[in-house]
Amino acid sequence: MALAILCSGGDAPGMNPALKKFVDHVYKCGETPYFIYDGLEGMIDGNIRQACHKDVAGILHNGGAIIGSSRSKRFYDPAYRTQAYKNLRKHDITGVVVLGGDGSYNAFEVLSNEHPVNFVGIPSTIDNDIYGTEYCLGVDTALNVIRSAVDNIRDTASTFKRAFVVETMGRECGYLAAVTALASGAEICAIPEMCFNKKAAESHLKKEIAHGRKYVLAIVAEGTKMTEEIKKWLTDEIGMETRVTVLGHIQRGGTPTVRDRIMAFDFTVRAVDLLMKNKTIRQAIGYRNGTFETMEIAEVNAGHYRIPDNILRDLHYLD
Ligand code: F6P
Repeated sequence: MALAILCSGGDAPGMNPALKKFVDHVYKCGETPYFIYDGLEGMIDGNIRQACHKDVAGILHNGGAIIGSSRSKRFYDPAYRTQAYKNLRKHDITGVVVLGGDGSYNAFEVLSNEHPVNFVGIPSTIDNDIYGTEYCLGVDTALNVIRSAVDNIRDTASTFKRAFVVETMGRECGYLAAVTALASGAEICAIPEMCFNKKAAESHLKKEIAHGRKYVLAIVAEGTKMTEEIKKWLTDEIGMETRVTVLGHIQRGGTPTVRDRIMAFDFTVRAVDLLMKNKTIRQAIGYRNGTFETMEIAEVNAGHYRIPDNILRDLHYLD
């Protein structure tokens, strides 16, 4: 049996540990592992090769993905999807492990509606925004990268008595910003999932400043598009000299944390075992309440991720 793996969309720390476990586990099961290089683009172009142990030696500690990734416009065209399917057939690939986020899951749902493609998705995105799982590969590393950056910013903010607006990634999802705000004790947090209560924040901050607060940290999710507005508000209404730091792509890199490595191993073994046991499968694995569970891809793609209530509740300390 030939099984393949690909990384698609934004890379996430933990992808390399997943690739290593994939190769090791598939060989251990007596089957043949293949790499699809450069995501969906590579699948269209037939950039598919058998993987060997040497390919994955010494990669556990590296962020990114040694086989590359891509966001593919061509995949929207059914002709290219047929070409991609034919490339899988050329190598007699019977199942694919998909490391990616919702865009990749959607792409594989569409592909498997048109062609008999078996696949299992492993949620992999720093955004942590996939329905049906509490955890996506890479989010733990990203949170630690952001936490470290915010700790550094706090040093200079407190020295200069300034306010800082720190913008985090996450697309439409505020998970990274919300968890960072809690972990860093930020005074302000703005995420798309909650209405930012300027009035309450203003009276809270003004009271604290009157009692000696010297600096302010505001964590703002990119999805709110409020970074500049909050900067202006901190300057004009709160009266603080304010700087903006857009963290950008540093959040996507870095050596995967222990949690992201171990989770990558667990997800991957399950994905491979599922592909070997099932002749027809179009599912994604999720991690919920401490266990791994699978869901049909159509259900995952139709659902909408919600930040857990306890996190949203805890953020109300900012009100
Ligand atoms: O989905 C991961 C992510 O890093 C988002 O948080 C961000 O909005 C987007 O990708 C950036 O995409 P690109 O790397 O294509 O600029």
